[in-house]
Amino acid sequence: MTAICQLFESQAGESAARSGQSGQGFTARYDRSMRSGLVIAIALAACSSTPQTSHTRFVTVGSDAVATALAVSAQDGQLAQVFATTDDAAILAIEEHELEALSHAMHEAHGRCGGFMLHETRIDAELALLPPDAQATPDYTLRRPAIVGALLPQIEATRIQGTIAELSAMKNRYYRSESGAAASAWLAKKWASFTDRSDVTIELFDQGYPQKSVIMTIPGLTDEVVVIGGHLDSIALGGMSSNAPGADDDASGIATLTEVARVVLASELRPVRTLKFIAYAAEEIGLRGSLAIVKEFKKRRVNVVGVLQLDMTNFQGSDRDIWIIDDHTSRAQNAFLVKLIETYLPDTTWGSDRCGYACSDHAAWHAAGIPASMPFEARSRDMNRHIHSAKDTLEQSGHNAQHAAKFARLATAYAVELAQLDVAPPLVCGYALPRDTGRDVDTSILSILGLLGLVGIGWVLTSRLAPALTRQP
Ligand code: BES
Ligand code: ZN
Repeated sequence: MTAICQLFESQAGESAARSGQSGQGFTARYDRSMRSGLVIAIALAACSSTPQTSHTRFVTVGSDAVATALAVSAQDGQLAQVFATTDDAAILAIEEHELEALSHAMHEAHGRCGGFMLHETRIDAELALLPPDAQATPDYTLRRPAIVGALLPQIEATRIQGTIAELSAMKNRYYRSESGAAASAWLAKKWASFTDRSDVTIELFDQGYPQKSVIMTIPGLTDEVVVIGGHLDSIALGGMSSNAPGADDDASGIATLTEVARVVLASELRPVRTLKFIAYAAEEIGLRGSLAIVKEFKKRRVNVVGVLQLDMTNFQGSDRDIWIIDDHTSRAQNAFLVKLIETYLPDTTWGSDRCGYACSDHAAWHAAGIPASMPFEARSRDMNRHIHSAKDTLEQSGHNAQHAAKFARLATAYAVELAQLDVAPPLVCGYALPRDTGRDVDTSILSILGLLGLVGIGWVLTSRLAPALTRQP
């Protein structure tokens, strides 16, 4: 039978411009069921292809068809590489000249037209494997490279380390303990020390526990809100009286977002979207802090357009740096994080992984239909085994915060691009000029033209009319 199927190409989009760039992603998990299928598929493969000059392409196939694809590639002695598998699909790197044979074999063995998707880059293929989300998402185009470039060098790992050291020196940060309550007050005071601006507010969000969630708000110009959060509480056996330093879980996340807040507030920048830093209370007992805040924000109709959760950022347990959790998170926003890493953190490697359950506060936002992401410190199988015990100390991370600093850079880039941090509007006669809010008409140009017009009218009035009016008869 002649293959009459077409190749299905994924949306190349922006990644196409980076064609050939391999990126990082999943590792191969080639299992036994695929191997048995391989034998059958080798017998089924119909087309022989003559080796020719070619280049590597990335395809996603159904997981039941991996063996068929491998059989096709085996015909010219170049076994395709399997990069990733989920329950439903797998990514393979295959030579371009083998695509036609693959299409044919898919048709013969599985009765599928095409039966695979072709992607420009491995990243595109990896993103296609992420579970879909149902949320409306904002425009993720990167527009502020100069501002990101100016802020990133200001992130200091030693400051993150200092904050982790102070938080983990507390006996515990349990949501019902005195020291847990003190942690909220301590953090609120630390954040307050970053600015004397009257428009920046710090609120202790009370949900009936001694420990309060801490919310710092840097107001923007629109009703849209961007949230960067982590959880303030810690836990270990013994509850109230336990020794629970929680250096990694999650003093590291709080220290990371604290450094982002410091750098943002040390600048003269102002966000177009309102930026909120949230240290959630009572995460360890079932996401209670974040669930209460999400509920309250929904009630108040707060328009949150993106949430970044920083929970465990300082234990480098795996070969790659940042692991983007792909369950209970937004596929589109996760792709945005990948874009931020690849654009602004070229030395930082990334991969995708999953918790398998609603493992942190991002899940509360996600369940409410708000785009949420959680970049994580290690693959879950390589995770820090000392969390929730007295051994969760800075020692386990080599007594430094180099790893967390990568997350602080990513979160800073996220804040700049999503909250649209920009130079403060110039003050003219005490009034701020409206800024470009990303809408179609550039309001700042219009207002400058308007202002010039006013200055012109003023000049005519003062230089021509005033002398005439004040002239003596
Ligand atoms: N930081 C952990 C979540 C985590 C641990 C993610 C290890 C990935 C690897 C978080 O503080 C936590 O402990 N979550 C609870 C669940 C929560 C709903 C109480 C957990 O994982 O048991
Ligand atoms: Zn925990």
